[in-house]
Amino acid sequence: MVCLENEGNAKDFSCVYHAWTYSLQGDLLGVAFRDGINGQGGMKEDFCLGDHGLRKLRVATLHGLVFGSFSDDVAPLDEYLGDEIVERIARVLENRTPVVLGRFTQMLPNNWKLYFENVKDSYHASILHLFFTTFQLNKLSQRGGIIVDPTGGHHVSYSAVDHAAEAAAQAATNDYTGQKIRSESGHQLEDTSVLAGTDEFGDGITLQILSVFPGFVLQQIQNAIAVRQILPRGARQTELNWTYLGFEDDTPGLREMRLRQSNLVGPAGYVSMEDGCVGGFVQRGIDGASDARSVIEMGGDGTTSSASRVTEASIRGFWKAYRNAMGY
Ligand SMILES: [Fe+2]
Repeated sequence: MVCLENEGNAKDFSCVYHAWTYSLQGDLLGVAFRDGINGQGGMKEDFCLGDHGLRKLRVATLHGLVFGSFSDDVAPLDEYLGDEIVERIARVLENRTPVVLGRFTQMLPNNWKLYFENVKDSYHASILHLFFTTFQLNKLSQRGGIIVDPTGGHHVSYSAVDHAAEAAAQAATNDYTGQKIRSESGHQLEDTSVLAGTDEFGDGITLQILSVFPGFVLQQIQNAIAVRQILPRGARQTELNWTYLGFEDDTPGLREMRLRQSNLVGPAGYVSMEDGCVGGFVQRGIDGASDARSVIEMGGDGTTSSASRVTEASIRGFWKAYRNAMGY
């Protein structure tokens, strides 16, 4: 706890308790009263600053993202992520200079793993999130797919607006009616500017959610781009940090779109607000059934990529990676 600020600049770090001071690299620079006072007290002669630095992170960067690990054994970042995940991060961030547009911190009333499941769960989005389906942003019938990396720990879910298929989507609407899915309603937006977007990446993909095991998310929802950090704060409390990004070369129009679309996500986002509470629902359910098992068999029992998003393959992949990491 030598850095108590969430952001800013520092030329060194100092501990508030005894004022031991460290360089930005974590080397111990100084110890208060090291030589005592008037020749009395202080550290022994042979005390060596070099032996008492901070525990150092292994750090690697990728397209402006900084990843860190305390493990000496973990593979180099490119290898850890694999080609498919690196490509999908590059798709959003490569050769651009990011600008932070804003931040949120949200406390979730559940274990961190329930939020990571939620991020990987493409099957719930058009059911739980009334806003998505009502305004035709994301239906499971849209063109898209799921990528699960070989370790199972990382995933990408993506979908595209496919205008050629919109006629067929009318039939797909019938897939939703009659199933008692709450996302069918007669609601309409009076101001649709929150949905105005542009095909920034030239591939028609309007939604890409990417997760990296064990606690990172890169989000592209139309032009709302954000990174999320999942920080466990206890067995049943999780801190979720959102950082919204634009880019230095944004036109004023594009910047405006990003800011408007940012209303869709975040703690009170039109789309994502339900995710802040469903983890708590599951947590409460577990309290009454701690010996029972959950069912994650949508799409079979495999952990492979697929063109269908009606699958929980990426959630099964998460548990595969988790069991592996925990040595089960
Ligand atoms: Fe969700």
